[in-house]
Amino acid sequence: MRPSQAPTIRLSEYTAPAFWVDTVDLTFKLNPTATRVISKITFKGNTDRTNGPHDLQLDGRNLKLITASINGKPLKDDEILQDTEGLRIPHDLVPQDNFTWEAEVEINPEGNTALEGLYMSNGMYCTQCEAQGFRKITYYPDRPDVMATFTVAIEGDSPVLLSNGNKVKHGKWHDPWPKPAYLFALVAGDLVSYDDQFTTMSGRKVDLQIFVREGDQDKCAYAMDALIRSMKWDEEVYGREYDLDLFMIVAVDDFNMGAMENKGLNIFNSKYVLASPETATDRDYELIEGIIAHEYFHNWTGNRITCRDWFQLCLKEGLTVFRDQQFSGDMRSHAVKRIDDVLQLRSRQFREDAGPLAHPVRPEEYIEINNFYTATVYEKGAEVIGMLKLLVGDAQYDKALTLYFDRHDGQACTIEDWIAVFQDATGRDLSQFKLWYSQAGTPRLKVTDSFEDGVYTLNFEQSSAPTPDQDTKNPQVIPVRTGFLNADGSETISEQLFEVTKAKQSFTIDGFDAKPTPSILRGFSAPVALDFPQDDTTLAFLLANDSDPFNKWEAGRTLSMNLLTRMILKGATPDDAFLDAMRTVVLDENLDPAYRSLTLSLPSEDALAQAIVDTGKTPDPDAIYKARKALALAMAKKTANDLPKLYASMSVDGAYSPDAKAAGKRSLRTKALSLLTKLEDDAATARAQFANADNMTEQLSALSILISAGHGADASAAFYDQWKDDKLVIDKWFATLASSAVPETALEKVTALSEHPEFTWTNPNRFRSLIGPFAMNPAAFHRADGKGYKFVADWLIKLDAKNPQTTARMCGLFETWRRYDDNRQALIKAQLERIAGAPNLSKDSSEIVGKILGA
Ligand code: TRP
Ligand code: ZN
Repeated sequence: MRPSQAPTIRLSEYTAPAFWVDTVDLTFKLNPTATRVISKITFKGNTDRTNGPHDLQLDGRNLKLITASINGKPLKDDEILQDTEGLRIPHDLVPQDNFTWEAEVEINPEGNTALEGLYMSNGMYCTQCEAQGFRKITYYPDRPDVMATFTVAIEGDSPVLLSNGNKVKHGKWHDPWPKPAYLFALVAGDLVSYDDQFTTMSGRKVDLQIFVREGDQDKCAYAMDALIRSMKWDEEVYGREYDLDLFMIVAVDDFNMGAMENKGLNIFNSKYVLASPETATDRDYELIEGIIAHEYFHNWTGNRITCRDWFQLCLKEGLTVFRDQQFSGDMRSHAVKRIDDVLQLRSRQFREDAGPLAHPVRPEEYIEINNFYTATVYEKGAEVIGMLKLLVGDAQYDKALTLYFDRHDGQACTIEDWIAVFQDATGRDLSQFKLWYSQAGTPRLKVTDSFEDGVYTLNFEQSSAPTPDQDTKNPQVIPVRTGFLNADGSETISEQLFEVTKAKQSFTIDGFDAKPTPSILRGFSAPVALDFPQDDTTLAFLLANDSDPFNKWEAGRTLSMNLLTRMILKGATPDDAFLDAMRTVVLDENLDPAYRSLTLSLPSEDALAQAIVDTGKTPDPDAIYKARKALALAMAKKTANDLPKLYASMSVDGAYSPDAKAAGKRSLRTKALSLLTKLEDDAATARAQFANADNMTEQLSALSILISAGHGADASAAFYDQWKDDKLVIDKWFATLASSAVPETALEKVTALSEHPEFTWTNPNRFRSLIGPFAMNPAAFHRADGKGYKFVADWLIKLDAKNPQTTARMCGLFETWRRYDDNRQALIKAQLERIAGAPNLSKDSSEIVGKILGA
């Protein structure tokens, strides 16, 4: 479909449905190419709608309609008005109060390469219905405000036949909780389960099952442990108890995203379930823990309380991300978690907000809703909740959440409902705060200060650049946590929370003996770009003394950002002050190793490119790559005598454990190894680590370091040979080869990898593992001849014909194109236009590419 033909859906045009649904009975007669779906749906008229009588309109895509009837009376062909998006029965054939719709349709799971609806993955049947996949299973009002109870019968010869809710008998399921169709799920296959049990706070026993392929049972223990901890945490922190007799998770290999919160039957990308020390890295364990928690937490924030329409997506996603971030902080380290989350927010969400795909946390229009599962909806959506909690305080936040669950349980809600809950619970006027949901773009917060007669003044000035569709912005509520340091590094007065609400606003504090050093935006208390130039001496002072772990880290980050920017733009060389500050971190045994590792990490090439754009200059990807490499070498030289000791002292004895403490030590050890290897001609230490590693974290980090150092050939071959039968590890192999490849030869390497027999590109994990890391290796992707762009565009065009959702998401790899020089812009534009003009391009990809081009 051409973009001009795909309709734009608008929030302002929301209307309630003409008919609600009470119950849905589904029977599936499974067959790989011709599955029959028999539905019996009881409808009731929506008495709030007056302008009737109403036709019956049902969504449906790629369905072969066999029969349909209303109240047992078969409908004739000419009574059913069908098009590619669904069907309509004229109102004179539709009882306006209550009626039963029955239909039989045929679908083709094996032919479903979009992985949306009912599809097959490695011989198993599975479903993905969010956002609008249910309409590819049967005719239905496929919208989240229509909630119904489902009963499901599955006929097939698989030993495992699963659906939502409680099990009635083999292949028969009943879900007592009314739900929107996007939470429907079905799984059938030759699976085995890893079982446990959980006793809820009221003493009910819940069976827990993780379904995997035979042979993968021994990789489920960590996911199960994370699930049990999540269930307990949600009881303790939010008072939320699980509400069915059974909770199931299924791991599937072909999946467009991370995981899906289907009621009682979460479906996961297998990479976020399966883990063993030999095959999963510390990062994998951390992600498994966070995603298991995220999907479980959706049971209340998403399922029991769902969204009225897809514009309200952040209602469930922002809140659930916020909750999973809180959980991971409680399980691990709040300081490290916050820094990781902010790094991710800046690299994904700020990048999105600064480019052609910028949109508000609650978008107002879309062509394809799948394109709005974005960093802005998820991550900025979570930041907005964090600000709300900070502004009202912890106790009031708890009160508001209790009211939210009491008032809206069983409903499909809006952001207005959410805001009203906070206003009612706290008595606070949140009308200005609500702008965070409707204004796109990252606000810039400029700060200046002055000191006179013991009075310290902070002047704030907020502004927000125009974004597509929004030329002017109003001032937002920006909570700014601020600390004040004495010259000896101690805190002068207690931390303040300034609420900036005006375009320009000053705050004064008196009683200081001397001008304090401010520590502004502690904990990154608002998702803004802070513009407060502090000199290197002050930054080094904050790095050494700030009691706020985020701002302490941030001071070091700003130091390295400033230095790298000087190196790139002015040819500066690394100065001793910076190198001394970094050496102090290398030597500081009082600091958490994970935190030290973060502090020693340099800003990414992409972050540097954006920083250079922010100074008004054009980034040169090669110069950025070289400067970063030169600074790392200078750091290595400075700490040459310290590194072997650091490397040795961070080794973890005994059996591998994925806990945060051990993972933190391995992370710092990797940092040491990476620096150390820059000083070795033969990469001997990395080679030894690669050869001796008994866990994937150490094996893979050694491989990556060897490749970057140009010594990776043998290790790469050995790694492949060792792991060729493990898909998830081979994904890592592709990803590491693509991301660590040195820029000069990366395209040749990646092209060869794309011809490798194991590059099974229709599998989204495999596709993403090669194309993504290459395009995020800026000096390689942005090679001046434009061949990097063409390579990625070729693959996107190829994938779009099979899987629009994953393709459209990956088109975002081009979203920063206007940062670059005219030559590169022209080369990228040509590729974007080639994608836009590809025959039969999906509406998913045409919406994204159209926006990127600014069409
Ligand atoms: N709701 C899911 C989550 O956030 C994500 C999701 C949305 C998804 N659409 C999807 C997952 C399509 C897989 C495929 O947890
Ligand atoms: Zn989610």
